[in-house]
Amino acid sequence: MKILGIETSCDETAAAVVEDGIAIRSSVVASQIAHAKYGGVVPELASREHLRAIVPVVRMALEQSSATFDGLAAIAVTEGPGLVGSLLVGITYAKSLCLARNLPLIAVNHIEGHIHAVVLEAGAGIEYPALALVVSGGHTHLFEVREGFTYRLLGKTRDDAAGEAYDKVAKLLGFGYPGGPIIDQLAPHGDPRAVKFTLARMKGNALDFSFSGLKTAVLRWVEQHHLSAEIEARRRLQGASAQEFLPLTPQPTLDLLASFQYTVIEELLRRAAVCIEEIGARSLIISGGVAANAGLRAASRAARLACPVFFPTPALSTDNAAMIAAAAFPKLRAGQFSDFSLRAQANLALA
Ligand code: KG4
Ligand code: ZN
Repeated sequence: MKILGIETSCDETAAAVVEDGIAIRSSVVASQIAHAKYGGVVPELASREHLRAIVPVVRMALEQSSATFDGLAAIAVTEGPGLVGSLLVGITYAKSLCLARNLPLIAVNHIEGHIHAVVLEAGAGIEYPALALVVSGGHTHLFEVREGFTYRLLGKTRDDAAGEAYDKVAKLLGFGYPGGPIIDQLAPHGDPRAVKFTLARMKGNALDFSFSGLKTAVLRWVEQHHLSAEIEARRRLQGASAQEFLPLTPQPTLDLLASFQYTVIEELLRRAAVCIEEIGARSLIISGGVAANAGLRAASRAARLACPVFFPTPALSTDNAAMIAAAAFPKLRAGQFSDFSLRAQANLALA
Protein backbone atom coordinates (compact mmCIF):
# COMPACT_ATOMS: atom_id res chain seq x y z
CA MET A 1 0.00 0.00 0.00
CA LYS A 2 1.60 3.21 -1.19
CA ILE A 3 1.00 6.55 0.51
CA LEU A 4 1.93 9.90 -0.98
CA GLY A 5 3.11 12.18 1.85
CA ILE A 6 3.14 15.98 1.63
CA GLU A 7 4.99 18.23 4.10
CA THR A 8 4.97 22.05 4.06
CA SER A 9 4.99 23.06 7.73
CA CYS A 10 8.02 25.35 7.61
CA ASP A 11 10.56 26.13 4.89
CA GLU A 12 10.86 22.79 3.12
CA THR A 13 8.45 21.75 0.38
CA ALA A 14 8.53 17.97 0.46
CA ALA A 15 6.71 15.01 -1.09
CA ALA A 16 7.44 11.29 -0.87
CA VAL A 17 5.96 7.91 -1.71
CA VAL A 18 6.34 5.25 0.99
CA GLU A 19 5.10 1.67 0.64
CA ASP A 20 3.68 -0.21 3.64
CA GLY A 21 5.12 2.37 6.05
CA ILE A 22 8.68 1.13 5.59
CA ALA A 23 9.93 1.30 2.00
CA ILE A 24 10.78 4.75 0.65
CA ARG A 25 10.02 4.74 -3.08
CA SER A 26 10.88 8.43 -3.48
CA SER A 27 11.58 11.43 -1.26
CA VAL A 28 11.89 14.93 -2.69
CA VAL A 29 12.77 17.92 -0.51
CA ALA A 30 13.02 21.46 -1.90
CA SER A 31 14.70 23.66 0.71
CA GLN A 32 13.91 27.35 0.49
CA ILE A 33 17.13 29.33 0.30
CA ALA A 34 15.26 32.64 0.12
CA HIS A 35 15.36 32.97 3.94
CA ALA A 36 19.15 32.82 4.33
CA LYS A 37 19.71 36.54 3.97
CA TYR A 38 17.13 37.28 6.72
CA GLY A 39 18.78 34.90 9.23
CA GLY A 40 15.53 32.99 9.82
CA VAL A 41 12.30 31.87 8.19
CA VAL A 42 10.06 34.69 6.91
CA PRO A 43 6.51 33.22 7.02
CA GLU A 44 5.04 35.19 4.11
CA LEU A 45 8.00 34.31 1.92
CA ALA A 46 7.71 30.64 2.93
CA SER A 47 4.06 30.36 1.80
CA ARG A 48 4.87 31.91 -1.56
CA GLU A 49 7.82 29.58 -2.08
CA HIS A 50 5.62 26.56 -1.20
CA LEU A 51 3.07 27.71 -3.79
CA ARG A 52 5.81 27.85 -6.40
CA ALA A 53 7.28 24.44 -5.50
CA ILE A 54 4.39 22.19 -4.47
CA VAL A 55 3.22 21.05 -7.93
CA PRO A 56 6.68 20.16 -9.34
CA VAL A 57 7.80 18.57 -6.04
CA VAL A 58 4.76 16.26 -5.88
CA ARG A 59 5.08 15.45 -9.58
CA MET A 60 8.77 14.58 -9.09
CA ALA A 61 8.01 12.34 -6.09
CA LEU A 62 5.44 10.41 -8.13
CA GLU A 63 7.72 10.11 -11.17
CA GLN A 64 10.71 8.93 -9.14
CA SER A 65 8.63 6.27 -7.39
CA SER A 66 7.04 5.15 -10.68
CA ALA A 67 3.70 5.39 -8.85
CA THR A 68 0.55 6.83 -10.39
CA PHE A 69 -2.40 8.31 -8.54
CA ASP A 70 -4.33 5.13 -9.31
CA GLY A 71 -1.70 3.09 -7.47
CA LEU A 72 -1.95 5.13 -4.25
CA ALA A 73 -3.85 3.97 -1.17
CA ALA A 74 -4.05 7.48 0.36
CA ILE A 75 -2.55 10.95 0.53
CA ALA A 76 -1.11 12.11 3.85
CA VAL A 77 -0.43 15.71 4.77
CA THR A 78 1.01 17.60 7.76
CA GLU A 79 -1.80 19.41 9.59
CA GLY A 80 0.43 21.12 12.20
CA PRO A 81 2.23 22.34 14.19
CA GLY A 82 3.89 24.88 11.91
CA LEU A 83 3.39 28.12 10.04
CA VAL A 84 -0.29 28.41 9.12
CA GLY A 85 0.30 29.93 5.67
CA SER A 86 2.81 27.20 4.85
CA LEU A 87 0.65 24.36 6.18
CA LEU A 88 -2.32 25.65 4.18
CA VAL A 89 -0.48 25.21 0.89
CA GLY A 90 0.16 21.51 1.55
CA ILE A 91 -3.29 20.87 3.03
CA THR A 92 -5.15 22.61 0.23
CA TYR A 93 -3.15 20.82 -2.44
CA ALA A 94 -3.61 17.43 -0.73
CA LYS A 95 -7.36 18.01 -0.44
CA SER A 96 -7.68 18.92 -4.11
CA LEU A 97 -5.72 15.84 -5.18
CA CYS A 98 -7.91 13.63 -2.97
CA LEU A 99 -11.06 15.19 -4.38
CA ALA A 100 -9.92 14.90 -7.99
CA ARG A 101 -8.58 11.35 -7.66
CA ASN A 102 -11.09 10.04 -5.14
CA LEU A 103 -8.41 9.11 -2.60
CA PRO A 104 -8.65 9.10 1.22
CA LEU A 105 -6.95 11.95 3.09
CA ILE A 106 -4.86 11.32 6.23
CA ALA A 107 -3.78 14.15 8.58
CA VAL A 108 -0.42 13.77 10.32
CA ASN A 109 1.07 15.70 13.23
CA HIS A 110 4.52 16.96 12.22
CA ILE A 111 6.08 15.81 15.53
CA GLU A 112 4.66 12.33 15.07
CA GLY A 113 6.23 12.43 11.61
CA HIS A 114 9.66 13.09 13.13
CA ILE A 115 9.23 10.08 15.43
CA HIS A 116 8.25 7.92 12.46
CA ALA A 117 11.37 8.95 10.57
CA VAL A 118 13.13 6.62 13.01
CA VAL A 119 10.40 3.93 13.10
CA LEU A 120 10.52 3.85 9.29
CA GLU A 121 14.17 2.80 9.31
CA ALA A 122 14.59 0.86 12.55
CA GLY A 123 11.19 -0.88 12.45
CA ALA A 124 11.08 -3.96 14.66
CA GLY A 125 14.43 -2.99 16.25
CA ILE A 126 12.58 -0.48 18.43
CA GLU A 127 11.14 -1.92 21.63
CA TYR A 128 8.36 -0.24 23.61
CA PRO A 129 7.80 1.71 25.72
CA ALA A 130 10.22 3.99 23.95
CA LEU A 131 11.31 7.49 24.84
CA ALA A 132 11.24 9.99 21.97
CA LEU A 133 13.34 13.15 22.12
CA VAL A 134 12.18 15.40 19.29
CA VAL A 135 14.63 18.26 18.79
CA SER A 136 14.22 20.67 15.91
CA GLY A 137 13.91 24.34 15.05
CA GLY A 138 10.37 24.38 16.42
CA HIS A 139 10.29 21.71 19.13
CA THR A 140 12.21 20.23 22.01
CA HIS A 141 9.90 17.58 23.44
CA LEU A 142 10.17 14.33 25.37
CA PHE A 143 7.41 11.76 24.82
CA GLU A 144 6.74 8.31 26.09
CA VAL A 145 5.80 6.22 23.02
CA ARG A 146 3.76 3.10 23.70
CA GLU A 147 3.06 0.15 21.43
CA GLY A 148 0.43 1.13 18.84
CA PHE A 149 1.74 4.71 18.78
CA THR A 150 0.08 6.42 21.68
CA TYR A 151 2.01 9.25 23.25
CA ARG A 152 2.46 10.92 26.66
CA LEU A 153 4.24 14.25 26.96
CA LEU A 154 6.95 14.16 29.65
CA GLY A 155 8.69 17.50 29.12
CA LYS A 156 9.13 20.31 26.62
CA THR A 157 10.89 23.59 26.15
CA ARG A 158 9.42 26.59 27.91
CA ASP A 159 11.04 29.07 25.56
CA ASP A 160 13.34 28.46 22.59
CA ALA A 161 13.66 25.10 20.87
CA ALA A 162 17.18 23.64 20.73
CA GLY A 163 17.46 24.23 16.96
CA GLU A 164 16.20 27.78 17.43
CA ALA A 165 19.00 28.38 19.97
CA TYR A 166 21.52 27.10 17.40
CA ASP A 167 20.05 29.39 14.74
CA LYS A 168 20.03 32.45 17.01
CA VAL A 169 23.61 31.92 18.20
CA ALA A 170 24.73 31.42 14.59
CA LYS A 171 22.95 34.59 13.51
CA LEU A 172 24.45 36.60 16.38
CA LEU A 173 27.95 35.47 15.40
CA GLY A 174 27.53 36.21 11.68
CA PHE A 175 27.15 32.66 10.41
CA GLY A 176 24.32 31.99 7.97
CA TYR A 177 20.95 30.29 8.43
CA PRO A 178 20.34 27.54 9.41
CA GLY A 179 23.03 27.68 12.07
CA GLY A 180 22.90 24.10 13.34
CA PRO A 181 24.98 22.42 10.64
CA ILE A 182 27.67 25.18 10.69
CA ILE A 183 28.07 25.13 14.49
CA ASP A 184 28.08 21.32 14.42
CA GLN A 185 31.01 21.33 11.96
CA LEU A 186 32.98 24.09 13.71
CA ALA A 187 32.48 22.85 17.31
CA PRO A 188 35.09 20.03 17.05
CA HIS A 189 37.73 22.75 16.42
CA GLY A 190 37.09 24.28 19.86
CA ASP A 191 37.39 23.29 23.52
CA PRO A 192 33.93 22.35 24.90
CA ARG A 193 35.04 23.13 28.47
CA ALA A 194 36.53 26.57 27.74
CA VAL A 195 33.39 28.59 28.53
CA LYS A 196 31.41 27.43 31.55
CA PHE A 197 27.68 27.84 31.02
CA THR A 198 25.30 26.97 33.84
CA LEU A 199 22.70 24.31 33.16
CA ALA A 200 19.06 25.38 33.39
CA ARG A 201 17.27 24.47 36.63
CA MET A 202 13.54 24.09 36.10
CA LYS A 203 10.93 24.96 38.70
CA GLY A 204 7.86 22.75 38.43
CA ASN A 205 8.41 19.98 35.88
CA ALA A 206 12.14 19.22 36.10
CA LEU A 207 11.92 17.50 32.71
CA ASP A 208 11.09 20.75 30.88
CA PHE A 209 13.83 22.53 28.95
CA SER A 210 14.91 26.16 28.71
CA PHE A 211 17.44 27.53 26.26
CA SER A 212 16.83 31.28 26.59
CA GLY A 213 19.31 31.60 29.50
CA LEU A 214 22.03 29.91 27.47
CA LYS A 215 21.30 32.18 24.51
CA THR A 216 21.57 35.27 26.76
CA ALA A 217 24.83 33.96 28.27
CA VAL A 218 26.28 33.60 24.76
CA LEU A 219 25.13 37.15 23.95
CA ARG A 220 26.88 38.51 27.11
CA TRP A 221 30.08 36.62 26.24
CA VAL A 222 30.02 38.07 22.73
CA GLU A 223 29.48 41.62 24.05
CA GLN A 224 32.40 41.25 26.48
CA HIS A 225 34.79 39.95 23.84
CA HIS A 226 34.40 42.70 21.21
CA LEU A 227 33.90 40.48 18.18
CA SER A 228 32.36 43.01 15.79
CA ALA A 229 35.20 42.84 13.24
CA GLU A 230 35.18 39.05 12.90
CA ILE A 231 31.36 38.95 12.88
CA GLU A 232 31.29 41.55 10.11
CA ALA A 233 33.85 39.56 8.08
CA ARG A 234 31.70 36.43 8.35
CA ARG A 235 28.51 38.31 7.47
CA ARG A 236 30.15 39.34 4.21
CA LEU A 237 30.63 35.62 3.42
CA GLN A 238 26.86 35.05 3.27
CA GLY A 239 26.01 31.38 2.60
CA ALA A 240 29.58 30.08 3.06
CA SER A 241 30.43 26.57 4.26
CA ALA A 242 31.92 25.74 7.67
CA GLN A 243 35.31 25.21 5.97
CA GLU A 244 35.15 28.70 4.48
CA PHE A 245 34.17 30.22 7.84
CA LEU A 246 36.96 28.45 9.72
CA PRO A 247 39.85 30.85 8.83
CA LEU A 248 37.60 33.78 9.82
CA THR A 249 36.80 32.29 13.22
CA PRO A 250 39.48 32.80 15.92
CA GLN A 251 40.10 30.16 18.60
CA PRO A 252 38.09 31.88 21.41
CA THR A 253 34.99 31.91 19.17
CA LEU A 254 35.52 28.25 18.23
CA ASP A 255 35.78 27.51 21.97
CA LEU A 256 32.52 29.39 22.52
CA LEU A 257 30.77 27.32 19.82
CA ALA A 258 32.12 24.06 21.26
CA SER A 259 31.02 25.07 24.79
CA PHE A 260 27.57 26.11 23.56
CA GLN A 261 27.08 22.79 21.77
CA TYR A 262 28.41 20.85 24.76
CA THR A 263 25.86 22.57 27.03
CA VAL A 264 22.91 21.94 24.67
CA ILE A 265 23.82 18.24 24.46
CA GLU A 266 24.18 18.04 28.25
CA GLU A 267 20.71 19.55 28.69
CA LEU A 268 19.17 17.10 26.23
CA LEU A 269 20.84 13.89 27.38
CA ARG A 270 20.59 14.64 31.11
CA ARG A 271 16.79 14.80 30.90
CA ALA A 272 16.57 11.88 28.49
CA ALA A 273 18.49 9.71 30.99
CA VAL A 274 16.04 10.63 33.79
CA CYS A 275 13.02 9.84 31.58
CA ILE A 276 14.47 6.48 30.52
CA GLU A 277 14.65 5.51 34.19
CA GLU A 278 11.22 6.93 35.00
CA ILE A 279 9.26 5.11 32.30
CA GLY A 280 11.51 2.06 31.99
CA ALA A 281 12.14 2.90 28.33
CA ARG A 282 13.49 0.05 26.22
CA SER A 283 14.56 2.32 23.34
CA LEU A 284 15.47 5.97 22.90
CA ILE A 285 14.41 7.64 19.65
CA ILE A 286 16.15 10.96 18.88
CA SER A 287 14.72 12.81 15.89
CA GLY A 288 14.16 16.24 14.33
CA GLY A 289 16.69 18.54 12.66
CA VAL A 290 19.05 18.68 15.67
CA ALA A 291 19.25 14.85 15.59
CA ALA A 292 21.55 15.37 12.57
CA ASN A 293 24.11 16.81 15.03
CA ALA A 294 27.30 14.74 15.03
CA GLY A 295 28.19 15.84 18.58
CA LEU A 296 24.79 14.72 19.91
CA ARG A 297 25.10 11.37 18.13
CA ALA A 298 28.56 10.74 19.57
CA ALA A 299 27.61 11.92 23.08
CA SER A 300 24.48 9.75 23.18
CA ARG A 301 26.58 6.71 22.35
CA ALA A 302 29.22 7.62 24.94
CA ALA A 303 26.60 8.31 27.64
CA ARG A 304 25.98 4.60 28.33
CA LEU A 305 22.23 5.10 28.59
CA ALA A 306 20.11 2.25 29.94
CA CYS A 307 18.62 1.44 26.50
CA PRO A 308 19.74 1.52 22.84
CA VAL A 309 19.54 4.83 20.94
CA PHE A 310 18.03 5.17 17.47
CA PHE A 311 18.64 8.13 15.15
CA PRO A 312 17.26 8.71 11.66
CA THR A 313 19.78 8.93 8.83
CA PRO A 314 20.71 12.64 8.46
CA ALA A 315 18.47 13.07 5.39
CA LEU A 316 15.45 11.94 7.42
CA SER A 317 16.41 14.03 10.48
CA THR A 318 15.41 17.35 8.97
CA ASP A 319 11.95 17.98 7.51
CA ASN A 320 10.89 15.55 4.79
CA ALA A 321 7.69 13.90 3.58
CA ALA A 322 8.75 10.25 3.87
CA MET A 323 8.25 10.57 7.64
CA ILE A 324 4.72 11.93 7.06
CA ALA A 325 3.80 9.05 4.73
CA ALA A 326 5.30 6.56 7.20
CA ALA A 327 3.35 8.02 10.16
CA ALA A 328 0.16 7.78 8.08
CA PHE A 329 0.47 4.04 7.50
CA PRO A 330 -0.85 2.89 10.93
CA LYS A 331 -3.69 5.41 10.51
CA LEU A 332 -4.51 3.97 7.08
CA ARG A 333 -4.73 0.49 8.60
CA ALA A 334 -6.87 1.79 11.45
CA GLY A 335 -9.16 3.67 9.03
CA GLN A 336 -8.35 7.07 10.59
CA PHE A 337 -9.15 9.38 7.70
CA SER A 338 -9.83 13.11 7.56
CA ASP A 339 -12.56 14.88 5.71
CA PHE A 340 -12.29 18.13 3.80
CA SER A 341 -12.88 20.20 6.92
CA LEU A 342 -9.21 19.57 7.83
CA ARG A 343 -7.60 22.82 8.99
CA ALA A 344 -4.02 24.02 9.44
CA GLN A 345 -3.16 24.16 13.14
CA ALA A 346 -0.18 26.25 14.21
CA ASN A 347 -0.02 24.82 17.73
CA LEU A 348 -1.25 21.29 17.31
CA ALA A 349 -0.17 19.13 20.28
CA LEU A 350 0.76 15.47 19.95
CA ALA A 351 -0.15 14.62 23.52
O1 KG4 B 1 13.24 19.38 11.78
P1 KG4 B 1 13.69 20.61 11.08
O2 KG4 B 1 14.16 20.47 9.64
O3 KG4 B 1 12.58 21.70 11.07
C1 KG4 B 1 11.72 21.93 12.16
O4 KG4 B 1 10.74 21.16 12.33
O5 KG4 B 1 12.05 22.89 12.90
O6 KG4 B 1 14.84 21.25 11.97
C2 KG4 B 1 15.55 22.40 11.56
C3 KG4 B 1 16.45 22.80 12.71
C4 KG4 B 1 17.17 24.12 12.50
O7 KG4 B 1 17.04 24.88 13.67
C5 KG4 B 1 18.61 23.70 12.25
O8 KG4 B 1 19.56 24.68 12.67
C6 KG4 B 1 18.71 22.45 13.08
O9 KG4 B 1 17.47 21.80 12.90
N1 KG4 B 1 19.79 21.57 12.61
C7 KG4 B 1 20.86 21.25 13.35
C8 KG4 B 1 21.70 20.43 12.54
N2 KG4 B 1 21.08 20.29 11.33
C9 KG4 B 1 19.92 20.99 11.38
N3 KG4 B 1 21.18 21.57 14.62
C10 KG4 B 1 22.35 21.10 15.10
N4 KG4 B 1 23.21 20.34 14.39
C11 KG4 B 1 22.92 19.98 13.11
N5 KG4 B 1 23.77 19.23 12.42
ZN1 ZN C 1 10.49 19.37 11.76
